[in-house]
Amino acid sequence: MDLEALKAQAAKQAAAHIQSGMIVGLGTGSTSKYLVDELGRRLKEEGLKITGVPTSERTAAQAKGLGIPLATLEEKPKLDVAVDGADEIELGTLDLVKGAGGALLRERLVEAAAARFIVIADETKKVEKLGTKFRVPVEVVRFGWKSTFSRLEALGVKPDRRETNGQPFITDEQHYILDCATGPIPDARKLAAQIKALAGVVDHGLFIGMASICYVAGSKGVEVLEKK
Ligand code: A5P
Repeated sequence: MDLEALKAQAAKQAAAHIQSGMIVGLGTGSTSKYLVDELGRRLKEEGLKITGVPTSERTAAQAKGLGIPLATLEEKPKLDVAVDGADEIELGTLDLVKGAGGALLRERLVEAAAARFIVIADETKKVEKLGTKFRVPVEVVRFGWKSTFSRLEALGVKPDRRETNGQPFITDEQHYILDCATGPIPDARKLAAQIKALAGVVDHGLFIGMASICYVAGSKGVEVLEKK
């Protein structure tokens, strides 16, 4: 089975938990795209009535195109559920690395406001330790970003400013992203706190203790991961 089919499978399983009347955080990325498509289908074919709170301009545009009613987090500060993908899922803790799509700041805000946060992914995202396959994105203010870069280096991670087509990548909140190579992280909670404490850092992609449950699709079907 190809990766796209697996992502779609995980998304469909999570979408089945969404009921009419819910306020739903809509994630960003290639897996979340399937979730939004499926909610759009249920809206048309089953009369599902939800309000979506998107985690990025990209997701907002997709949801709008499908006719999903949207609200901002200011309008709906409490959500029933949020569903989003992840770059890495640590087995056992369900701690995550997120942000390869660049939406980590709004993702954290929306997901922290949700009563439940459901993660959807294909099985390649499972890791024993965070930092093994992906770099940890750190969102920084543009002002003085080189000093922030040096502070991250001093912490022992290897930052690299994200670019697209030779231009610095700019987030929805108008910041830069510094992708930090860490290698397997022994204590992700500690590193998260150290990064967050640095001047110039707005947020990072270590989502510790946030996931309620993960639907992970693999060749044997969708596995449900819960915290041990
Ligand atoms: C977006 O900023 C990210 O946090 C995504 O949720 C994460 O990168 C997973 O994306 P894919 O579903 O495209 O792998």
